[in-house]
Amino acid sequence: MILSGRAKVAGVMGWPVSHSRSPRLHGHWLERHGIDGAYVPLPVAPENFEQALRTLAMLGFHGANITLPHKEAALRVVDEVDPLARRIGAVNTVVVQEGGDLWGGNSDAYGFIANLRDRAPQWRPDRGPAVVLGAGGAARAVIVGLQDEGVGDIRLVNRTRQRADDLVRQLAGPGELTAIDWEDRAAALSDAALLVNTTSLGMSGQPPLDIPLHDLPTAAVVCDIVYVPLETSLLSAARRRGNVAVDGLGMLLHQAVPGFEAWFGVRPVVDGDLRRLIARDTIAGPL
Ligand code: ATR
Repeated sequence: MILSGRAKVAGVMGWPVSHSRSPRLHGHWLERHGIDGAYVPLPVAPENFEQALRTLAMLGFHGANITLPHKEAALRVVDEVDPLARRIGAVNTVVVQEGGDLWGGNSDAYGFIANLRDRAPQWRPDRGPAVVLGAGGAARAVIVGLQDEGVGDIRLVNRTRQRADDLVRQLAGPGELTAIDWEDRAAALSDAALLVNTTSLGMSGQPPLDIPLHDLPTAAVVCDIVYVPLETSLLSAARRRGNVAVDGLGMLLHQAVPGFEAWFGVRPVVDGDLRRLIARDTIAGPL
């Protein structure tokens, strides 16, 4: 590790932050590229968040990732909000600019699409409808990413219908975005080219996601943004019937790329070594 008095410093601000994989991830890239820099965990309680974020520039930080529960608050604190982050409604990447102003962006939509393109190169935005399960923060990033790729028909399925309706109103875009009742989730899969789970169902400690896949074409790609476990029951069921299955770890890795490049000046690569390193830290199971 190179760490001189001139080191560039960034970190991840969250509460709690001890579970974050980002320090390992960025540490791996810093090492690999021989960069004089550091990426540190920044545990910041909600009541201190605004002050802590403002203090980044004073401390000479180049920026930070923002994670739960601060992503929405960050949108209100930064001096300049990237239009994509504004649409998603959350900031996950802050860059300290010349003069100390804070720029806030969101790389989650990029991370989702980059991972999808990487792991399922056969997927094309014009192949057919996309079904998105869930209407939380992750769903917002996934939907915005799909809209910007040009997916013309997005079906948003959520247990609480009101939340889906709210999201459809807020994210109305160039293509179609339709809210569907949770009870109708199996039928929503007919003729779909992509299914994405953004709910917490299937995550370790949570109930499994219960969705019959019989109406889903076998040519469709199935993505889970859950990555603990890496192989959720949704992904195994999809693989068993011949669908290409994409796990959530890659989204985590890819979303880190734009921040690293902005703070440290090198665009890092997501490859098998990085995947194995972070998976080993996180999960006992096959890659
Ligand atoms: P995040 O911001 O991380 O995406 P979130 O806002 O807590 O997380 O959203 C979690 C998603 O999982 C929501 O869409 C939630 O559905 P509701 O809007 O109805 O709460 C969904 N979810 C959680 N538990 C669920 C369950 N048992 N059945 C169906 N959906 C569930």
